[in-house]
Amino acid sequence: MPNNEILKRVEEIVKKQCENDSTGHDWTHVDRVRKIALLIAKKEGGDPFIIELAALLHDVEDWKTKDAGSGKAAKILEQAGADKDVTNYVVRIISKISFKGIDNDDKMGTIEGKIVQDADRLDAIGAIGIVRTCYYSANRGRRFYDPAMKPDVKKVKDINRKTTAINHFYEKLLLLRDRMNTETAKKMAEKRHLFMEAFLKQFKEEWDGK
Ligand code: ADP
Ligand code: NI
Repeated sequence: MPNNEILKRVEEIVKKQCENDSTGHDWTHVDRVRKIALLIAKKEGGDPFIIELAALLHDVEDWKTKDAGSGKAAKILEQAGADKDVTNYVVRIISKISFKGIDNDDKMGTIEGKIVQDADRLDAIGAIGIVRTCYYSANRGRRFYDPAMKPDVKKVKDINRKTTAINHFYEKLLLLRDRMNTETAKKMAEKRHLFMEAFLKQFKEEWDGK
């Protein structure tokens, strides 16, 4: 099976699966992660075929959902005609990709993994990151801000606790700039990070009636 045919099939399956997503993992997120990852790869290297497959599949087994560890990604790759080596390589990458809090080992061993992880994290910050966070929080019925609820970086994995959209910036989003793997992503993250800081500053000022 030619690589571009495998990619086309995987894209079709993933697109269909995330059509009605309300958790911030919609198709447009997947598509942006793919674009950013391929852009980073142009400067940093890595196998573009593996990178594109891992980007397309990176959220199908999200740790926060029942799909975690379900073998869904491997099944999709098999269905699309990928061989065993490619499947194993991609599955290894996506099992490590997610940010599960500051104490979790999420180090990537391969350049392809580093790049896709960076791309996923870049899409979690900046203007798009702000919108995704508000969207996710609203869907979970959370307040956008409550000064009485303090951020707690140790509780990121407790997804059912009471928290706010603004807390998520302090528990995850503002930490991502310094957790980028590649130099290219570090540069891209800087602009997005500064934008979030400016947003939070203005938000607090308006909250205080200034
Ligand atoms: P990723 O796709 O980067 O692995 P997640 O699966 O953790 O990220 O979450 C997807 C997006 O949903 C995040 O980028 C963020 O915008 C939003 N999100 C996740 N967890 C929370 C949370 N506890 N509060 C607010 N937004 C969240
Ligand atoms: Ni993602």
